Amino acid sequence: MKDRPIGMFDSGIGGLTVMRSVIDRLPGEDVIYLGDDARGPYGPRDIEQVRMFSREIIDYLLGFGVKLVVIACNSATAAALEEAQHDYDIPVVGVIMPGVRAAIRRSKRMNIGVIGTRCTIGSGSYERALRRVDPRARVFSQACPEFVEFVERGEVVGDHITEIAMSYLEPLTEAGIDTLIMGCTHYPLLEPLLHEVAGPDVELISSAEETATEVEDILDRLGWLREGGSSGKHYFLTTGEVEKALELGRMFLGPEVREATHINFDSYPELDLDIPAATTDASGGEEAGIEL
Ligand code: DGL
Repeated sequence: MKDRPIGMFDSGIGGLTVMRSVIDRLPGEDVIYLGDDARGPYGPRDIEQVRMFSREIIDYLLGFGVKLVVIACNSATAAALEEAQHDYDIPVVGVIMPGVRAAIRRSKRMNIGVIGTRCTIGSGSYERALRRVDPRARVFSQACPEFVEFVERGEVVGDHITEIAMSYLEPLTEAGIDTLIMGCTHYPLLEPLLHEVAGPDVELISSAEETATEVEDILDRLGWLREGGSSGKHYFLTTGEVEKALELGRMFLGPEVREATHINFDSYPELDLDIPAATTDASGGEEAGIEL
């Protein structure tokens, strides 16, 4: 199990902010990242459709024999995590709970703001999770549908985005939040701007780092952490255009994104992994020899 890769996916390239944290924390692990660029963004989509896409992707990743799946997308986590954790026999980690735990730990007055896509905020997942972890939490949520497009255009500073950020955040700052969860993979790239608009008294929470810690804890607990000093291999798969994925990928993750491979769900590219792709049962269960 130790030598199997970690699978990660997102509606596109945003989840690379989570991958950055995972490979920084676990440099020895092989990671396969799948960006569903052809169908992303998920934020404006119907939650049921996002659930179906997520399931299709997890089934596909299981064909690579992955030992754990990270749903590196808030919208897909809101739509599909609970069901996936129930239905698959390998650990499935989302990005919502790690951010929630960090916010509860750090908030002084339990006035917590959450920003995300329409899909994420509309699902109420953050609110439910925050109240489950600490019933004293007062939660103020705001969908910020325009942010994703700005970030993907590389427009993370300037008058226009600042004005939009001010109007999104105004109800939250007026409510007196002391902590703000950036509940979307793209928002860590807006961190300096959000910090300026929210003010110095509001602590910003990025789920990326917290998610990486959770992945490490789970693999450690199962004895599935890869041993040895060699650095892991990283693969970038996209359902969309390779050139665009590469360009945006470098912006979100960094120079490690040297190559990307276009995939559809009917076949598997050959990756230099310790086990060949598509040799395991897509349900991830007994045939893959996985016992939790
Ligand atoms: N990755 C998505 C999320 O974290 C943002 C982009 C999208 O709308 O798909 O919600």
